[in-house]
Amino acid sequence: MIKIPRLLQAVLVVAFIYVAFIVVFDVVLGQVIPASLLTMYMFFVIAGVFMVFTFTEESARELAAPIKALVEDPRKKAIRNVVFAALPLAAAAFTYYNMLPSYQAPVELRSIHPAPPSTVKAFGKRYDLSTLENPFRKYEKEDPEKFEQLVKEGGNIYVGNCQYCHGDKLDGKGPFAQGLNPIPLNFQDIGTIAQLQESFLFWRIATGGPGLPEEATPWLSSMPVWQNFLTEDEIWKVILYLYDYTGHRPRSWAQAHE
Ligand code: HEC
Repeated sequence: MIKIPRLLQAVLVVAFIYVAFIVVFDVVLGQVIPASLLTMYMFFVIAGVFMVFTFTEESARELAAPIKALVEDPRKKAIRNVVFAALPLAAAAFTYYNMLPSYQAPVELRSIHPAPPSTVKAFGKRYDLSTLENPFRKYEKEDPEKFEQLVKEGGNIYVGNCQYCHGDKLDGKGPFAQGLNPIPLNFQDIGTIAQLQESFLFWRIATGGPGLPEEATPWLSSMPVWQNFLTEDEIWKVILYLYDYTGHRPRSWAQAHE
């Protein structure tokens, strides 16, 4: 039987516990492990494995043997040079990739599209979201020329107010996006406005991050409260533009109740 070196045994035990821990969390509990918990747990696992593997002087010597040989054995000079060059490089790469800013929204327990309240207050009025419709949508069929003009005005509003965060391609990658958490939503993605009614967008644009209901917390959305800066009509026009540019169709109530 081949004898597995003690050092490799120790590494395998730690790796096994690591994988088991992730599997238990993922499959059994159906949860994502918080990184801080994983780090803490692995710290104790490694400390524990180290203690067991160095329990006697004999076993401690066996554990360290491959490392000692690598450093001292003249015949291992070539491998030594490779390891001594690779280790700092690996550490540098690890640090570098950890410091890189990420576009990925952090995995958090929050709903991206919280259920809207049935009525919302904006512009000093109460709106019933289940019946609210875009007053300009009808021109798409009735007067395409006028509709085109409205979309164009919506585009100007977008460029003047929204592209800083949501991007000039509406992909959520505006110049400010990297500094924000949660990140601005990508309207090209089929998971955002393509899933929503125009009344939902009206609510989100008019009341912004502060208008989000309780269950949407914890999050500090930077989405501004646009009722303070735009008129109702301007909001409806920019909504026309969002759907026109991305080619998505707003969800209608008929679809929503299917
Ligand atoms: C300061 C950055 C910023 C600006 C400027 C901004 N937004 Fe946002 N917006 C966000 C962020 C961040 C989110 C995601 C968090 C949230 O839903 O509140 C968001 C979310 C949204 C949503 C919700 C989409 C969904 O799928 O639920 C809509 C709609 C929206 N923005 C439209 C606009 C419009 C229209 C403008 C311009 C009038 C605008 N935003 C300007 C940051 C911004």
